[in-house]
Amino acid sequence: MERVRDRASSAGMFVLAALCLAPNGVWSFNLYAEHPTVYRGPDGSYFGYSVDFYQASTDRNTVSVLVGAPRANTSQPGIVEAGAVYYCPWPGLPESCRQIPFDNSNNRMIKVNGTREPLEFKSHQWFGASVRTHKGNVVACAPLYRWRTVKRDGEKDPVGTCYVAVQNFSAYAEYSPCRTSDPDPEGQGFCQAGFSVDFTKDGRLVVGGPGSFYWQGQVMTAGVAEILNGYSLKAVLRRVAGEKQTVMAEDTNDDSYLGYSVAVGEFTGDSAQGEQRPCVCLTRAAAAWWEVSARSRAGPGSHLDVKYGVQRDSDS
Ligand SMILES: *[C@@H]1O[C@H](CO)[C@@H](O)[C@H](O)[C@H]1NC(C)=O
Ligand SMILES: *[C@@H]1O[C@H](CO)[C@@H](O)[C@H](O)[C@H]1NC(C)=O
Ligand SMILES: *[C@@H]1O[C@H](CO)[C@@H](O)[C@H](O)[C@H]1NC(C)=O
Repeated sequence: MERVRDRASSAGMFVLAALCLAPNGVWSFNLYAEHPTVYRGPDGSYFGYSVDFYQASTDRNTVSVLVGAPRANTSQPGIVEAGAVYYCPWPGLPESCRQIPFDNSNNRMIKVNGTREPLEFKSHQWFGASVRTHKGNVVACAPLYRWRTVKRDGEKDPVGTCYVAVQNFSAYAEYSPCRTSDPDPEGQGFCQAGFSVDFTKDGRLVVGGPGSFYWQGQVMTAGVAEILNGYSLKAVLRRVAGEKQTVMAEDTNDDSYLGYSVAVGEFTGDSAQGEQRPCVCLTRAAAAWWEVSARSRAGPGSHLDVKYGVQRDSDS
């Protein structure tokens, strides 16, 4: 439990710091680092792997804690250790957390050559490896979610997938930007979308997929309203309106893991346009990050422009 405790208290510290910095803070409270709230999840579920605070947009007086447990078992029939995100009232007792029903369903099936076979493989998908909230909207992802691909014989490509929840968990929609007709390591097959995730200040989703294009990695953004609008379980290959994705670069950029982590902020000091840019962190080089410009080329298939923020070191 030590790990959970540490995470809970350091996350608590973060809130405290954020409140102190808020210029117009009208309410505040204290956390007692020596008496932290401790939550417990199932043994072996990696409960506490990810965590964020949550506030329903209709209830400004209550803050709760969302805790990812990427190896938790769920009620999804026939699926082992799909992973889950727990809703924990705060303050609350150690056993007070409940699974949020982002997805209750089994693997979808597809008819191939007259026989039904799974279209996807949700066991061990690590749902809850990442979770983020923004003004009552929540996103949580399963970076190891696999699907059979569009290929004739099918494969199991770990494209990753995310779910958004809105209106205090009364509506859900899936967002799997790498589940496309571009499979395999050279395409988006090993994307692992949702390895990292964040929201922009105005509520757009920013999703990192470090495995696309021989691990060059990839970042995509999409609006939550657009993800929900016209959402259907049957739309397996879906391009969300207004979605932007970074594209493949020269092969000298292989193994860069773009999208290993993402954070959103104003980094260039030119916020005159009020424009916020996702900062996308890489792992290969010590001090490297790429800046993803919010400007995109106009028209369908438009994509984000990616610039190096700091010159990347040589291999390390
Ligand atoms: C999930 O369920 C499986 C099969 O019932 C079991 O073997 C496994 O230990 C469970 N995992 C967790 C984290 O509870
Ligand atoms: C479909 O079934 C036929 C007959 O069983 C077989 O010859 C063919 O290879 C199968 N095609 C695929 C794509 O599996
Ligand atoms: C929001 O959902 C949580 C979890 O289901 C529930 O406990 C809470 O009462 C709800 N809040 C509102 C304002 O509906």
